[in-house]
Amino acid sequence: MITGERVDLKPFSLDDLEFLYRWNNDPDYAGEYEPPEQATREELEEWLLEKKPGQRWYIIQTKQGLGVGQLVAKEKEDNTIQIGYRVTPPARNKGHCTAAVRTVVNYLFSETDAERITAEANPRNAASIRVLEKVEFTQTCYKEKAVEINGVWMDGAVYEIKKSDWL
Ligand SMILES: CC(C)(COP(=O)(O)OP(=O)(O)OC[C@H]1O[C@@H](n2cnc3c(N)ncnc32)[C@H](O)[C@@H]1OP(=O)(O)O)[C@@H](O)C(=O)NCCC(=O)NCCS
Repeated sequence: MITGERVDLKPFSLDDLEFLYRWNNDPDYAGEYEPPEQATREELEEWLLEKKPGQRWYIIQTKQGLGVGQLVAKEKEDNTIQIGYRVTPPARNKGHCTAAVRTVVNYLFSETDAERITAEANPRNAASIRVLEKVEFTQTCYKEKAVEINGVWMDGAVYEIKKSDWL
């Protein structure tokens, strides 16, 4: 468990099966800028049991222990870690994602070799971009046609924060 000031990050376990089943099958959870994902309980269970080298998956938990979303940190080349996140629709706009990103950035820069943390957002995803800006990520690149969602190609804005800027 990674303890933050406002939220904690609990590594995924089989205990999270119902939460993930409930929310992954709700298209609003992925939102309009992320590919929708649907999975049966059995598929999710199998996936939860798989080893995922270089990937850290967490449930974003309130201090009362309520699951309000998820965050992933994936190792890339050159001491870079890419993060992604989702918050359940009823828990949005309460600062949970910002708190979770701050917590993981703090953890990754203090406990791993990460020199750079990146995130990619659809340029129209104002909430996601606002989260990154609040944690002082800066935009480094713009990718045209970065991801295909429901047959439509969407652009991507890449943001990053460097360890030297964080400390
Ligand atoms: C992006 C997401 C994770 C943000 O989670 P959250 O817990 O609501 O984020 P926070 O509450 O920490 O911050 C959201 C900020 O965006 C702002 N915001 C939300 N919707 C907005 C909009 N349409 N336009 C402008 N700002 C917006 C909020 O006001 C808040 O900023 P503030 O604190 O300055 O008021 C959530 O919206 C989500 O899960 N979306 C669907 C999945 C997704 O898009 N994931 C990211 C992929 S890159």
